[in-house]
Parts: sequence; structure tokens; C-alpha cells
Amino acid sequence: MTEMTRRILLLSATVFGAGFLAACTSSPRQREDTPSSAPTIPAPVQTDGSGLAPRGELYGVDIYNTQHVADELRYIEENIQPLTDGDPKRILITGSTAGVGQFAAAYFLRRGHTVVAHARNAQREADVRRDLPGLEAVVVGDLLNLEETQALAEQISALGAFDVIIHNAGEYGLPNEQILNANSLSPYLLTAVVDAPREQMMYLTSDLHLSGDLKLDELRSGGTNVNYNDSKLHMATLATGVARRRPLLRVNAVAPGWVPTLMGVHNGPYAPDDLRESYMTLVLLTEDTYPGGQVTGQFLFQRKPETRVHPAVHDPESQDALLSAFAERTKVSLS
Ligand SMILES: NC(=O)c1ccc[n+]([C@@H]2O[C@H](COP(=O)([O-])OP(=O)(O)OC[C@H]3O[C@@H](n4cnc5c(N)ncnc54)[C@H](OP(=O)(O)O)[C@@H]3O)[C@@H](O)[C@H]2O)c1
Repeated sequence: MTEMTRRILLLSATVFGAGFLAACTSSPRQREDTPSSAPTIPAPVQTDGSGLAPRGELYGVDIYNTQHVADELRYIEENIQPLTDGDPKRILITGSTAGVGQFAAAYFLRRGHTVVAHARNAQREADVRRDLPGLEAVVVGDLLNLEETQALAEQISALGAFDVIIHNAGEYGLPNEQILNANSLSPYLLTAVVDAPREQMMYLTSDLHLSGDLKLDELRSGGTNVNYNDSKLHMATLATGVARRRPLLRVNAVAPGWVPTLMGVHNGPYAPDDLRESYMTLVLLTEDTYPGGQVTGQFLFQRKPETRVHPAVHDPESQDALLSAFAERTKVSLS
């Protein structure tokens, strides 16, 4: 059995459940021997102004990141040096509160780029402000809710032009309707509504896109039967379609590999690919050091073009059909 077949079988066998981990927000109970006449004064809590404090230890191990992710974030913090030549960029990364998006944001900060992070809510904003000091700003919006995505697009637009936008956020293991909103319709809406960046866009996809389907009729008819694999085919085909529509921009799909972020270990502790490679292609593209040069319209995996790609991804008719189905569904056209 090939690695790919084994992986598809493993993931297909999963019964989808909702959410990753619930946060414990209850206050500790007061000790019974505390004298009632001497009330304890709680230590001041550092918050981001929202009234919420970041959860857990730095990088939120077992809350929103795995130990592997925390270790890699520490590696970045301790080893990555500022740019000595090359241009600092202004970069927006969706889903930069954990995993691959957080690696990219942490790396870019260490290099001296300007980074705007994205969090799904005020709690996650507080977490990422603690984990990634030096962010220019954090935009907030839950991509499960398309009205929040619209409001998020307005927040992003109000911040002015970016050099690079990375559409990284993604859900896994949720019902199809939620996967459709977070992984397909929201990245499309953000692409269509927010002004294009000056240089590049990237869309995070997966080798699981190979067993996806564009589900064009489902999109046009208002249906919700779009699973994770379909959504990752959407992301890759959106990238190549936008690359054709916007020839002055460089737009690529990037698969990070199967790596031990919380998403990667959702079905168990096995994730075979190199965690560092999950974000290095994003780094090389952003810093114009990708070995293949200034590419566009490609599907990349670990610093090179992926050879196993669904035929729809590089088919102009499929790209146009997907963009028009997204426009019909969301009532927002891509210029
Ligand atoms: N890990 C893998 O093996 C793997 C393989 C192939 C492709 N990918 C793709 O790589 C990308 C990053 O995945 P990852 O492994 O880094 O996953 P992760 O650790 O679960 O991180 C996902 C990020 O996206 C954010 N996000 C998810 N749903 C959101 C929503 N509804 N609204 C706002 N933000 C949301 C998360 O926010 P919270 O922290 O608040 O949840 C988090 O910041 C995804 O597009 C994924 O599909 C991952």
C-alpha cells in the first residue's frame, strides 16, 4: 500500500466530530482555609485590551498547538536572523494563531518583515499577541461565518496594501457545511473583496485534493456537500485561476505536507512529513529566494512543483467554472 493510499484510507475512516479542544475558562476554586477577612487580590493579568488573557504556556501546547509546533517555534525564535539584504515585506497570513500559519508569521517577524496576523476571535487574538510579539496588527473574524468573513475583509482593506497575502487558515473534521464556509467560500470572498497585494498570494492546499471534486453543481445550487478534500481542490484551483486572471500578481498553491500540527494529528499521532518544510516554501516565495524563481500558477510542495496534481488545477475551463460558481454562490465576483 502506498503512503498516499494508506493516508486516504486512514482519513476516510474518520467520523467527523466538531472542534479540536475546548478551553477551560473556569476560575480555580478558593481554598477552604483562606480566611474570609483577608481576601486574596488577584495578580494583574496582561491582556490585549479585550479583557481576555492568553491561555496556557507560551505557544499553547495541548490547547491550540502540539509540542512539535512549540519546539519549532522556539527553534525559529532562537535561530532565525534578520534579513541582511532583500526587501522587508508587509505580509498578511490568515490562520496565524497556530500551526503552519504561526510558523510563517514567527519566521517573518524574526526576519524583520511586517506581519499582520489573523485570529478567529478575541481569545485567539490575545493568544497570538502573547505568542508573537511585534505583530503590526491582528485582524479578527471566524471564517465559519461568512458575515464575519465580510467584516474581516473590511478590516484587512482598512489596513492598506500588502506585499503578500497567504490564505492559510483551514478547518478539518467539521461537518461539510462548515468546511465549505471556512475552507472554500471564505478564502474566495477574501480574494474577491480585499485589494490584491502588490506581489504575491499563496493558498494552502493538500495532497488530499487529489481525491476531491470541484462540486460545481453543489456550489451553484446552494448545497453544502463539500468535504475537506473538495475544499483543498478548491484552494488549489482558486490559486491557479486567480493567477490567470491577475497576470501581474504571482499566485501559487502550496501543500505543506502531512505534519504534526493539531490538524495533522487530528486522527492520531502519526504525521510523516518534515515540520520545517511545511512553511519554508512560503518563506522562499515571499523572500524571492524560491529555487524556481518568480513562479506563478503552480502547485508547490517542499520547494518544488508537485507532480501529482488533480487535472482540474491546471485546466483553464475548470478554473473559470470554479470562479463563476463561487461568484454565483457568494454574489461577489472576482475582478
Ligand atoms: N497539518 C497538516 O498535515 C496539513 C496537511 C495538508 C494541508 N494542511 C493545510 O495547511 C493549513 C494550515 O494547517 P495547520 O496544520 O497549520 O492547522 P492548525 O494547526 O489547525 O492551524 C490552522 C489555523 O487556521 C485557523 N483557523 C481554522 N479555522 C478557522 C476559522 N474558522 N476562522 C479563523 N481561523 C481559523 C486556526 O485558528 P485556531 O488556532 O483558532 O483554530 C489556526 O490558526 C490548512 O489550510 C490546512 O488545510 C495541513
